[in-house]
Amino acid sequence: MSDDETVEEYLFKIVIIGDSAVGKSNLLSRFARNEFNAHSKETIGVEFQTQSVEIDGKEVKAQIWDTAGQERFRAVTSAYYRGAFGALLVYDISRRATFDNVARWLDELNSHSDTTLAKMLVGNKCDLENTRDVSLDEGKSLAESEGLFFIETSALDSTNVWTAFEIVIREIY
Ligand code: GTP
Ligand code: MG
Repeated sequence: MSDDETVEEYLFKIVIIGDSAVGKSNLLSRFARNEFNAHSKETIGVEFQTQSVEIDGKEVKAQIWDTAGQERFRAVTSAYYRGAFGALLVYDISRRATFDNVARWLDELNSHSDTTLAKMLVGNKCDLENTRDVSLDEGKSLAESEGLFFIETSALDSTNVWTAFEIVIREIY
């Protein structure tokens, strides 16, 4: 086998951001290990996991970075964003305050990355329809006005979790 016949591999860094307890770590564990933890602890510092996705017959590896939503537990911010090709910006559909803070997260993201980053606004916990505090339309229109992809997910029942990551990976691939 000559060199140019060897399998090409792609590795893309994707960051997850958003307020504390919106479900960032559970979105990652659902995507990378198909696991959900109802009693997960707040993240301290930075963690990452990799997952492979097949796009158009090619294996694409995503390295997903997860950090604390709480300021006091966060690591050096610029290092977190460095080299990222995509971002998931997560809020909790049952807590409006987390949606109101999306603008702040977006500011931070934009000030640490260039415009070619693929950005997805993610309304997580869509299984909590009974206690919904942010409508689907509000999510959609914020995403539209800021030029973000948009999806609602549930790390608990797996709704759209794979799709959310796949859309971002496809966009940067
Ligand atoms: P920090 O690490 O503090 O920034 O929080 P986080 O965004 O990583 O949140 P985490 O994934 O730890 O989830 C916080 C809580 O929400 C946990 O009790 C999870 O079980 C719960 N949770 C996460 N995703 C979902 C979901 O889709 N639906 C429901 N009902 N609960 C969820
Ligand atoms: Mg976490």
